[in-house]
Amino acid sequence: MKRWLKRALRWDERSDYEKSVALYRLRYRVARAASPAGLGLRRLMRWAGTDKDRPDGHSYGPVYAEALRPYRWRAIRLLEIGIGGTDDEAGGRSLLAWLAYFPRAHVVACDLQDRSALAGGRLVIRQLNQGDPGDLGRLAADGPFDVIIDDGSHLSAHQLLTFRALFDGLAEGGLYVIEDVQTSYWHREVGGVAWDGAAPQSEAFGATCVGWFLELAKHLNHAEFLDPADPALLAYARQIRRITFEHNLILIQKGHNDARSNTVGRP
Ligand SMILES: C[S@@+](CC[C@H](N)C(=O)[O-])C[C@H]1O[C@@H](n2cnc3c(N)ncnc32)[C@H](O)[C@@H]1O
Repeated sequence: MKRWLKRALRWDERSDYEKSVALYRLRYRVARAASPAGLGLRRLMRWAGTDKDRPDGHSYGPVYAEALRPYRWRAIRLLEIGIGGTDDEAGGRSLLAWLAYFPRAHVVACDLQDRSALAGGRLVIRQLNQGDPGDLGRLAADGPFDVIIDDGSHLSAHQLLTFRALFDGLAEGGLYVIEDVQTSYWHREVGGVAWDGAAPQSEAFGATCVGWFLELAKHLNHAEFLDPADPALLAYARQIRRITFEHNLILIQKGHNDARSNTVGRP
């Protein structure tokens, strides 16, 4: 940055956090200006710096690009749980990608940490704990949402609690994405964190995020069951058109699923 500009902005007097907020605001303006241009999502993710599509990060870009395309030009409401950042950096990388990709979207984002410095324009920020049912109830009141992305703590218990709290607030035809579900398989410490996963062969796996959604996936064909279905799973299954399992991702598409069997229960 030029010396005179730095001086005018009192750049050297700012903390690293304040500098990162200022840079975020600049990038937000670029994102807003660029959004009608229709640039590809993967390119925008790389520009924003989110680890969702990076050689040393996740490879979610192609999946998101395909799944989010139908929502692109609509005035959607998008919620993301997990903003990122550190004590020195304000985070919000994926939010820049969403704001640049969806020119008409209103975005709500939340985090355990206070990231309110990023709020403004089409972006609302909440500070909350996704492991707290009261916090999740208040978040649901910000809905209904067309797209919900859970990129928060990645604990199975939180992923399931959050889905159950927010599913009613997902609009008909809406998309719910859970990232980093590999933690369902981690029943030993990985990366210094004690995850709440289970071995896939064990009975306990059914209580993990992947295990629970696999069971729910069975119920999408509830019309073909010869025996009574699990009532709680059936209530969800009737409102889910599709569940997709990708590498470390689960995508749930909401929609009526009440078609009757052409055989079972018919005279
Ligand atoms: C992987 S980062 C999010 C990255 C961001 N979505 C991106 O792609 O640039 C995960 C975030 O979840 C937040 N988080 C962790 N536990 C949480 C909880 N219990 N409730 C809400 N947010 C939480 C962390 O503070 C962290 O900022």
